[in-house]
Amino acid sequence: MRRSMHRFPRGRQTVAMAPLRPDPPLATAVVHGATGYVGGHLVRALLADGTVVLAVGRSASRLEALRESAGSDGSRLVTVVADVSTDEGARQVAQRLDEHGVVQAAFAAIGGWWEGPHLVDLDTPTWSALLTSHLTAHFLAARATVPRLDPEGSAYVAFNGIATLQPEAGSGPVSVTGAGQSMLLDVLRAEDGRSDVRYHELCVVNPVVDVGQAVHATEAVVEITDVVAAAVTLARSGDSRTHRQELGRL
Ligand SMILES: NC(=O)c1ccc[n+]([C@@H]2O[C@H](COP(=O)([O-])OP(=O)(O)OC[C@H]3O[C@@H](n4cnc5c(N)ncnc54)[C@H](OP(=O)(O)O)[C@@H]3O)[C@@H](O)[C@H]2O)c1
Repeated sequence: MRRSMHRFPRGRQTVAMAPLRPDPPLATAVVHGATGYVGGHLVRALLADGTVVLAVGRSASRLEALRESAGSDGSRLVTVVADVSTDEGARQVAQRLDEHGVVQAAFAAIGGWWEGPHLVDLDTPTWSALLTSHLTAHFLAARATVPRLDPEGSAYVAFNGIATLQPEAGSGPVSVTGAGQSMLLDVLRAEDGRSDVRYHELCVVNPVVDVGQAVHATEAVVEITDVVAAAVTLARSGDSRTHRQELGRL
């Protein structure tokens, strides 16, 4: 599985985000997929904002590297080494969250880009692995986290990409699971009786690049700072009617 920038539409513009609104910072947040590209940047931004962050990932060493990269802000980082694509991992996450009380925000940045054979040529083990990483892990992350969201005001923000909006030839499993992720969020929202718990999907429709790299891009891209800002703004003060926010341009 790998991420590629080359499957995305070319020749479009980056959409600039407004700066973060001056809402109060989040007290406690959990980030699933904290060892990934988007998740890592999000964790550092939340820590810098004063938030206590529970960072969930499968690799202890990658989580420790994340702490190092946060500098002194790393003192607010709580690492949770767990494979959230398994029942046991989800149970560990739930247990660690219980130790910290309710959380104000949860972010799911699990699964990255993938390219490979067309669906009719795809082998079953690859298909199953992608269902696990891109859908089951989202289900279990939600199952472990949603009951621990603050009923007096909190949000669950899941990242998604272009493949959920349109069929991407050669990335079929990402399209299929992306559509499943969207419906997962819709069902979670429909089943949640707490009026002050919000669910948002942040659909980033272009490849994400490091800060300052958009000007060098030959295709439509979104800078990571804009992705992080959009996610944090949604979590802090999103409108409950915003079920999906698209970032970038189709
Ligand atoms: N990067 C982009 O250009 C881009 C563009 C549009 C949308 N997005 C969206 O942003 C989100 C994150 O993407 P990314 O680029 O940050 O991906 P990434 O760098 O590949 O990170 C993926 C994360 O998911 C975790 N993960 C993968 N398989 C897993 C499994 N089976 N069980 C548990 N965890 C698993 C990884 O953990 P390990 O470290 O343990 O492998 C890692 O933390 C995705 O929803 C993607 O659609 C990204």
